[in-house]
Amino acid sequence: MISVIFVCLGNICRSPMAEFVFKKMAEDRGVGDFFDVSSRGTSDEEEGNPIYYPAARVLRDHGIFGSHRAVQLTKKEVINADYILVMDSSNLYDVLRLTGGQCSEKVFKLCSFASRPRDVADPWYTRDFEKAYSDICEGCAGFLDFVLRRRCDAPRGNGGGTP
Ligand code: 4NP
Repeated sequence: MISVIFVCLGNICRSPMAEFVFKKMAEDRGVGDFFDVSSRGTSDEEEGNPIYYPAARVLRDHGIFGSHRAVQLTKKEVINADYILVMDSSNLYDVLRLTGGQCSEKVFKLCSFASRPRDVADPWYTRDFEKAYSDICEGCAGFLDFVLRRRCDAPRGNGGGTP
């Protein structure tokens, strides 16, 4: 099982969108069972709140559904995960501050897996939820290809080879 945590600031817009998009992509490719996927926020500001309505609406318009309550990321979760996928440079900074710089090898910006590396701009401020959705889709597709390629390339039969 490969554990993946998508991380944004509030855990009510981008990271739950990425969680649901990635789960659907993996399921559609027949590899949903390979992954343990969740999402978290670096702040506790929205703790317990559902996905923000405009984000849920964009997902629904694209046939993606899921229930969610915002949860703040912990250092233990970062240590235990295989991949931490953040949305922007500020999230990256916050995650590495949380771990005291540990685990940097498993923390990636989601759109570092896109054709043009970039941040997923926060739709809480831009109000462009479709743009966030399309950036997230491109990042998730690139990340899924990357992980599946890594799995194929990993040495077999020695108990090693992550993921
Ligand atoms: P997210 O967006 O990090 O994509 O979930 C935000 C949600 C809430 C706030 C900021 C960003 N806020 O300031 O409450």
